[in-house]
Amino acid sequence: MTFKKKLCLGIINFCVLMTGCTGSKKSAADSSSLKDLYKSDFLIGTAMNVEQIEEKEPKAAALIPAEFNAITAENIMKCEVIHPGWDRYNFDLADKFVAYGKRKNMFIIGHNLIWHSQLAPFVSEIQSSDSFMLFMTNHINAVAGRYAGKVNGWDVVNEALNEDGSMRNSIFLEKLGEDYVTKAFELAAKAAPNTELYYNDYNIEQPQKRAGAIRLIKKIQAAGVRIDGVGIQGHWSINKLPLEDLEKSIKEFAKLGLKVMITELDVTVLPNPWDLKGADVNQNFEGDSAMNPYPSNISDSADTKLALYYESLFKLFLKYTDNISRVTFWGVNDGQSWLNNWPIKNRTNYPLLFDKNFNKKSAYEKVAALK
Ligand code: XIL
Repeated sequence: MTFKKKLCLGIINFCVLMTGCTGSKKSAADSSSLKDLYKSDFLIGTAMNVEQIEEKEPKAAALIPAEFNAITAENIMKCEVIHPGWDRYNFDLADKFVAYGKRKNMFIIGHNLIWHSQLAPFVSEIQSSDSFMLFMTNHINAVAGRYAGKVNGWDVVNEALNEDGSMRNSIFLEKLGEDYVTKAFELAAKAAPNTELYYNDYNIEQPQKRAGAIRLIKKIQAAGVRIDGVGIQGHWSINKLPLEDLEKSIKEFAKLGLKVMITELDVTVLPNPWDLKGADVNQNFEGDSAMNPYPSNISDSADTKLALYYESLFKLFLKYTDNISRVTFWGVNDGQSWLNNWPIKNRTNYPLLFDKNFNKKSAYEKVAALK
């Protein structure tokens, strides 16, 4: 090769490299959406509230289908909304939610069938075990049955475990005994044969609770009952990144033959002086201004820390794309997050990838730039 040709090729290669670099940077940060960037890795989901389901907020209505390809109902499929009386059901919002997902060609997750929280008041008045079993059977048949073939996955049982891995002392445990979990999956499998069925809980990346979840899942499997996946909720705090435990959990759950999902991802940046762990929605605390350090804007250092946190999380998720089928955020933007009101009411939190004006945060850019 002549010197001239060598020089020429060198220049061409240099140009390709330069345009290649700037080109891919541009697409990650500016033009591509998360669902497109992560298309060959896992689904990217969001929880939806009522206003979003009814497409009442123009910015959310544009952003949700652009960025996400999976949706979870934040509240409207919970017992207190969908099954308010013994033989009364209210499917209006759930029908709208499912129709929305179909229209937008999204993966639809029903959340949830069996949970001790947000139950309709009539449930606590049911006396006998037989009547309680009838309630659970009717509930699953009616709700999972109605959306069979329409909802792609159900959180069949939510939060059945204590932090030490033992069974949570809920009304379900009290009335039906430990086997209620297996029974719920059996009923769901019959009512919705082509729907994926999940066990969903917070802190199950932690060793003791993870062991409890594994015991529970093995029990379901040993009974010959179908379970397809496990949802690690992912309500984490900027002060603690459980990367090692999370990695172990992904491996261990995958070993059970299950799909692994991060189902309710958000990262609180606010102080938590009681060292409250997890996401028990029944715990609430009065706050003072020290508990609300960023009432109008997040500090640069907290914003950067959050971005690096999300970057490490998604780096880990990308290591396990064979096992992880979906990563769902618990809300679209910071302004709508439940963490503004839990565990203390009326704070300003910044746990998601979009700010309250639907602008992409540094955390979004970090997650996008990994692709
Ligand atoms: C939360 C909702 O986001 C709030 O709007 C509601 O007031 C309480 O429940 N774990 C779960 C979710 O499985 O259903 C909870 O959602 C958050 C914790």
